[in-house]
Amino acid sequence: MTAPEIAIKDLTLGLKAERLGKSFPGRDAQVIAVSDVNFAVAPREVCILLGPSGCGKSTILRMIAGLETPSEGSLTLNGELITKPNRERGMVFQGYTSFPWLTVRENVAYGLRINGDVSAMREGTVDHFIEQVGLTRVANAWPHELSGGMRQRVALARALANSPKLLLMDEPFGALDAETRWQMQELLLSVIRKERMTVIMVTHDVEEALLLGDKIVFLSSHPGRVKEILHPPFKNDTSITTREELRSHPEYSMMETKILKMMREEGNH
Ligand SMILES: Nc1ncnc2c1ncn2[C@@H]1O[C@H](COP(=O)(O)OP(=O)(O)OP(=O)(O)O)[C@@H](O)[C@H]1O
Ligand SMILES: [Mg+2]
Repeated sequence: MTAPEIAIKDLTLGLKAERLGKSFPGRDAQVIAVSDVNFAVAPREVCILLGPSGCGKSTILRMIAGLETPSEGSLTLNGELITKPNRERGMVFQGYTSFPWLTVRENVAYGLRINGDVSAMREGTVDHFIEQVGLTRVANAWPHELSGGMRQRVALARALANSPKLLLMDEPFGALDAETRWQMQELLLSVIRKERMTVIMVTHDVEEALLLGDKIVFLSSHPGRVKEILHPPFKNDTSITTREELRSHPEYSMMETKILKMMREEGNH
C-alpha cells in the first residue's frame, strides 16, 4: 500500500461532508435523495463517488459545487461552509456541456475570459490544454462538428484551464472508448499531480475508480448513503503503465470482485 502524499494534521483542511442530506419535493411526498452521508477528502486526494444509478452521486457533487443547498448536515472546504459556486471549485458536468455558439478554443477559454484572465490566453494556457486533450487539429471547429467523446474532452480542457483547487467531475469519460479513456485517465493523473489538485469524481466504471482513486466512497441507494469506503493502492504505483498491468495486479481482482458484488446487491433492491 502506498502512503497518502499528505498527512492531514489540520483536520479543517480538505473537504468534509457531515451528516449530509438532500430532499427534493416529490409528487406526493419528499424524495430523500441523499441521507446521513459522511466522508472527508484530504488535499490532493482523488475521491471517487461510485454507486448505482439514482443513488445521489450527481446530487452530492452539485452540493459540493454550491449549485444545490443541503437539506441537512453540512459541507465544508478548508473549514469554510460551502454556500455558493466558486472558481476554486471547477465542475465538469454529466453529459456534454460545450457552448454550441463558441469554437473549441473559445469554449476552453470561456472560464478564463469570464474571470478576466486575458494574460493566460496569451501565455498559451488554452492551447496547452487543447493539445493535452488531443484536440489541436479541431481547435477552430464548432462543437456540432465534433464526436461526443471530443466534446467531453473540450469540457475537461475547459475545467483544467482554470486550474481549480478542487476539480469536480461527473462521469467525464462516460462516452469514450476504452483506449481513449485510458489516455484521458493518464492525462488527468499527470495534470492533477502537476497542478496539485484535489479531485472528486463520479464514475460508473469500476476499473476507472480503482485506477484513479485514493479513496472510493461507495453509495447505496434510496436514499443514498455511504455503504463502504475503499482505499485502492494503484494510483501512485508508477509500475502500472498499461491496462493489462493494472488488471493483473494481485490486489486488483480482489477489489474489483468486492465492488461488483456490492453493485449487484444494490441493483437487486
Ligand atoms: N432536481 C431534482 N428534483 C427532484 N428529484 C431529483 C432532482 N435531482 C435529483 N433527484 C432525485 O434524486 C435521486 C438521485 O439523483 P442523482 O442524479 O443524484 O443520481 P445519480 O447517482 O447521479 O444517478 P446516475 O448514475 O443515473 O447519474 C434520484 O432519485 C433523482 O430522481
Ligand atoms: Mg448522475
